[in-house]
Amino acid sequence: MSYAAYVFDAYGTLFDVHAAVRRHGAAMGPDGQAFSDLWRAKQLEYSWIRTLMGNYTDFWTLTEQALDFAFARYPSIDPALKPALLDAYWHLDCYPEVPAVLKSLKDRGARIAILSNGTPQMLQSAVDKAGLTWIIDDVFSVETVRNFKTAPAVYDMVTTTYRLYPGAVSFQSSNRWDVAGATKFGYRTVWINRGNAPDEYADFGPSLILPSLDSL
Ligand code: LAC
Repeated sequence: MSYAAYVFDAYGTLFDVHAAVRRHGAAMGPDGQAFSDLWRAKQLEYSWIRTLMGNYTDFWTLTEQALDFAFARYPSIDPALKPALLDAYWHLDCYPEVPAVLKSLKDRGARIAILSNGTPQMLQSAVDKAGLTWIIDDVFSVETVRNFKTAPAVYDMVTTTYRLYPGAVSFQSSNRWDVAGATKFGYRTVWINRGNAPDEYADFGPSLILPSLDSL
């Protein structure tokens, strides 16, 4: 089965969000991974709370606020690392299989897009630095609808722009909550379970679960 469009979540799916911390692993010490996990968890929590409140603030601001919280929670980590950690977000590594998988889907005639909470500037920078500019047809940022995932208006941007039914879109995300939102919207969904996490949101299950984007 092939789909008219293959749409990818950005952070955690195409780009490794923990790469920023790993790059500075030596300077961060033993709390580095816990710090990185908390930074990511708070970034997402802030996006959900802002959406529920109806008070949109862009993802870059939330990323910085979440980082400040992580520094406050882990005083062992030197706050002087803040600019370097934030800077790394603008050129995250993509996962190794990403270029070849995207190219093979594009060669089959599908449109290739990103749908992400990130700002257009953050996303364009990550795409450029990872060398994916030539493969990605469109980058959809939530900035257009000023609501974060899992608001249906976010998923609707793709189907409205491409004039497709949701079922003609295959959506890939490593975030199980994002897969739930996209499934509820009507996309065909693939959960990229990179961390072998237990399943959740049983009433909004994916069509397929893969350990990486390989074999998509
Ligand atoms: C994104 C976050 C959720 O890229 O990973 O939208």
